[in-house]
Amino acid sequence: MKKYNIAIVGATGLVGQTFLQVLEERDFPIKNLYLMASSRSAGKILNYRGQDLVVEELNENSFDKNIDIALFSAGGDTSKKFSPIAASKGVIVIDNSSAFRMDDEVPLIVPEVNPEAVWNHKGIIANPNCSTIQSVVPLKVLDEKYKIKRIVYSTYQAVSGSGLAGIKDLENGLKGLPAENYPHQIAGNCLPHIDVFLDNGNTKEEQKMIDETKKILRKDVRVTATCVRVPVLHSHSVSVNIEFEKEFDIKQVREDMASVKGLIIQDDVKNNIYPMAINSKGKDEVFVGRIRRDESVESGINLWVVADNIRKGAATNTIQIAELLIEK
Ligand code: A2P
Repeated sequence: MKKYNIAIVGATGLVGQTFLQVLEERDFPIKNLYLMASSRSAGKILNYRGQDLVVEELNENSFDKNIDIALFSAGGDTSKKFSPIAASKGVIVIDNSSAFRMDDEVPLIVPEVNPEAVWNHKGIIANPNCSTIQSVVPLKVLDEKYKIKRIVYSTYQAVSGSGLAGIKDLENGLKGLPAENYPHQIAGNCLPHIDVFLDNGNTKEEQKMIDETKKILRKDVRVTATCVRVPVLHSHSVSVNIEFEKEFDIKQVREDMASVKGLIIQDDVKNNIYPMAINSKGKDEVFVGRIRRDESVESGINLWVVADNIRKGAATNTIQIAELLIEK
C-alpha cells in the first residue's frame, strides 16, 4: 500500500492532538509525519505510535520537504498565511479554519454529504465549522427525497470548541474565578454569543452555519441559526427544525436517516433514549434522535443531533477528507 508524507500544523492544540489519535486509530498509511506549531512549541516532543516526534516551528520553508497532505488547525491567520505557501509547493492542504471555507475555488467537504466535491480543489480543501458538519450529515438524504425548504438550527455548544482556553474558563468558573476567554462567566450559564457579532445581528458562528450549509447542501435552501455556548466540556448538541416541500412518512424518514453511513439513530423515548453529549464524547459518528413531526407546519420535522465537536466536528472529518484523497 502506498504511504504518504503528512504534516500537522497546530499539532500541539486540542484538534492537533486529536489528529494524532485519529490517524493512528484509522491506520492512515503514513511514511513520514511532520509536526508543526508556533515557536513556543519548537522542540517539544509528541508521541505517535510509540515514536517520539519533535515539533518544528512553522515557517515559510516548512513545506520545502516532500509533503503530500498538510492538516491545518492553527487558527485562521496561520492558515491565511501558510496554506497558500504549502499549496504552491504541491502540498494538498485540508484546513480547519474558516479562512477559505466560502472561497469559490475551495471545496467545503463533509464526506457523508458531498465527497465528489473534493476533486475540484486547487491545493486547498476546507473542513466546515463543527456545528455545520454534524448538522448536515442527516440532511442530504432528506433533501434528496423531500426537498428541504427551510432549516432552523439552535445549537448548544461545548466549551472545547474554543480550545484549551474555553475548557479553562469553565473549570475556573466552577471554582468562582472570573472568565478570561468568554465575555461572561460560562459556568452555570448559557452564552448566546459565539465568535463576533456581525452587522446583520447574527454572530459569525451563526453566519458560518447558514453560509456553509448552503454551500454544502444547496444554495437556495433557507437557513437560520442561533448558536449558544453551554457549560458542557465535550460534544455539541443541535436542535434542527426542517421544513420540506414534499410530504413524508415519519417512519420512512427514520429509515432514510438510518441508511446514512456514520449516522446512528438513538431514538427510544419510552426508555429515555436520545443522543446526549456525555455519550458521544470520543466517538466519530453523528447521533440523531427526538425524531418527530413539527405539527406547526404542513411538512416539517424536528431532530436532536449530537456529535463530538473535536472528532467528527474537526479532526475525524478532516482525516476522512484525506482518506477520500488517497482512495482515489
Ligand atoms: P502552540 O501550542 O505552539 O501555540 P488550540 O486548539 O489549543 O487553540 O491550539 C492551536 C494550535 O495552533 C496550537 O498547536 C498552536 O501552537 C498553533 N498555533 C497558534 N499560532 C500559531 C502560529 N503563529 N504558527 C504556528 N502554529 C500556531
